[in-house]
Amino acid sequence: MPIRTIGKTEIAVTPVAMGCWPISGISSLNVTVEHSRRTIQSAVDAGINFFDLAYSYGYEGECECLAGEVLQPLREQVVIASKGGVAWQGRKRLFDAQPEVIRAQCTESLQRLRTDLIDLYYLHSPDVNVPVAETAGAFAELLDEGKIRAVGVSNATVDQLREFELVCEVAAVQPHFNMLQREIEEDLVPYCRERNISVVVYWPLMKGLLAGGMTRDHQFAPGDGRARYPMFQGEEWQRNHDFLDQLRPIADEVGCTLAQVVINWTIHRTGITAALCGARRPEQIEDTAASMNWKLTEDQTERINVAIAARGSIVSKNKP
Ligand SMILES: NC(=O)c1ccc[n+]([C@@H]2O[C@H](COP(=O)([O-])OP(=O)(O)OC[C@H]3O[C@@H](n4cnc5c(N)ncnc54)[C@H](OP(=O)(O)O)[C@@H]3O)[C@@H](O)[C@H]2O)c1
Repeated sequence: MPIRTIGKTEIAVTPVAMGCWPISGISSLNVTVEHSRRTIQSAVDAGINFFDLAYSYGYEGECECLAGEVLQPLREQVVIASKGGVAWQGRKRLFDAQPEVIRAQCTESLQRLRTDLIDLYYLHSPDVNVPVAETAGAFAELLDEGKIRAVGVSNATVDQLREFELVCEVAAVQPHFNMLQREIEEDLVPYCRERNISVVVYWPLMKGLLAGGMTRDHQFAPGDGRARYPMFQGEEWQRNHDFLDQLRPIADEVGCTLAQVVINWTIHRTGITAALCGARRPEQIEDTAASMNWKLTEDQTERINVAIAARGSIVSKNKP
């Protein structure tokens, strides 16, 4: 299995990681706990060793509990990432990156994950009410205490990252990135390449849209939060489908699925360390895991890049 390292550490990860948000219980429409257990196990069986979680995946930490249960017997062979700094108050999401909150959330995450060491612990998002340096201080302490192996920062600008780094070494960042949302290539990716910081990206399938499983007349189930994003609506939706229609002949030529073309392109993009592939069911993660052991040809990559340029980027308005 191809392996990449996180920042300057020796943490070795597969370029396809499993993103556990879709099985968090919040967004998991029609997904049972048993399904979710099987999805995590299928990821391991398919060769994935990198799992992305967060304190806030699940209203009460359900996702970490579930992953902790399935991954505990496999602890030596998997890399567990989690995040602190975002929590739920009832059904309301709170951003809180005060040092004492980060420390308390990390302690809880360690318990839920049934481990004494989190391999990669991210700040989920900078908090406008707390100076970045103060938050970074808490992460530096967690490192010193041996509770985490490496530190990551998610949803941060280059300036915020720079500030964080003055207090605590950063091994990885976690921004969103996919074929149609590539703004990080302008600033964050070059910055990270220069400093040997890994770039682990979320939404590689644009929340499922780029996997091509939704038809043009797709109706979201009631409660599916994706319906509110502009990329799933009106003219943007149709243009995104036009774009997918240009990728389909390439998938046919390779003899793979659309999702595999998209993920393969993503993990071979300059400066990208790993793609966090969300999955709701075992067959989805088995499909995306099969994007790892091969590479699109230069000609196929070039044709994809031409289609991407013709479609144009979708920026900021689709941010979480
Ligand atoms: N740091 C942050 O703030 C942040 C924010 C968002 C996400 N994340 C992380 O990044 C991960 C990825 O994001 P995401 O899960 O929202 O989006 P994603 O990976 O872009 O898309 C996941 C969705 O795509 C569909 N899918 C997956 N594999 C498929 C396949 N092989 N064939 C067809 N459809 C497939 C499934 O949706 P359907 O079954 O419904 O079609 C799945 O729920 C998350 O799980 C989480 O770990 C981090």
